Amino acid sequence: MTSELCYLPEEVSQDEIIEEINAEAFGPGRFARTASRIREQGPHDPALSFVCLDDGVVIASVRLTPVWAGEAAGHMLGPLAVRPSHKNRGVGRKLVRISVDAAARAGSEVVILIGDAPYYGPLGFKPIVPPTLLLPGPVDPRRILADPLVDGVEAKLVGMMRFRA
Ligand SMILES: CC(C)(COP(=O)(O)OP(=O)(O)OC[C@H]1O[C@@H](n2cnc3c(N)ncnc32)[C@H](O)[C@@H]1OP(=O)(O)O)[C@@H](O)C(=O)NCCC(=O)NCCS
Repeated sequence: MTSELCYLPEEVSQDEIIEEINAEAFGPGRFARTASRIREQGPHDPALSFVCLDDGVVIASVRLTPVWAGEAAGHMLGPLAVRPSHKNRGVGRKLVRISVDAAARAGSEVVILIGDAPYYGPLGFKPIVPPTLLLPGPVDPRRILADPLVDGVEAKLVGMMRFRA
C-alpha cells in the first residue's frame, strides 16, 4: 500500500468520524466500561488527542483526558482505535507514542490506561504493583497500566482516579 499516513491533533469537525471509529472498535457496550465512568466526568484534551489521516480521511484516533491518578496530575489514555482496514501497520503504536510525548511536554506526571499489557508493555506501560490506584468501577488490576513521566511518581498513584479540571 502506498498511501500517505499523517498524524495531527484532532479537530472538533472530526468528532463524528471519531465516534464512528470508536463505535466500530468497541461496540455499544463502550459506555458501560469503567474508563467511561471517568470520561463522563469531563472532556478529553483535544491538544493531546491525535488522529491518523489516510489521504485526508481519519482512520484512527487516540484521546487523552486530564485526571488525578490518586495524587498525581496525569492523563488517562483512551479510547485508542484503528479502522480494521488499517490495522497492523504501526498506527496504534504511533498514536500512543505521539500522545504520550505531547502529555510529557505539557507537564503531565503519568499516563494511565486500562488495556492489554502485551500491547502496551513495549510502549512503556506497566501494571501498578501493588494496585493502589482505584477506579470508579470494576476492572482487573493487571489491566491498569501506567507510564511514569516523572521520577518517583509511582508513590503518588494512591487513591481514586478522577477527572482533573
Ligand atoms: C488494538 C489496536 C488499537 C492496535 O492498533 P494497530 O494499529 O492495529 O496496532 P499496531 O500496528 O500498532 O501493532 C500491531 C501489533 O500489536 C498486536 N496487537 C494488537 N492488539 C493487541 C492486543 N490487544 N494485545 C496484544 N497485542 C496486540 C498485533 O498482533 C501486532 O503484533 P505484531 O507487530 O507482532 O504483528 C487496534 O487493533 C484496535 O483498534 N482494536 C480495537 C480497539 C481496542 O481494542 N483498543 C484498545 C486496545 S487495549
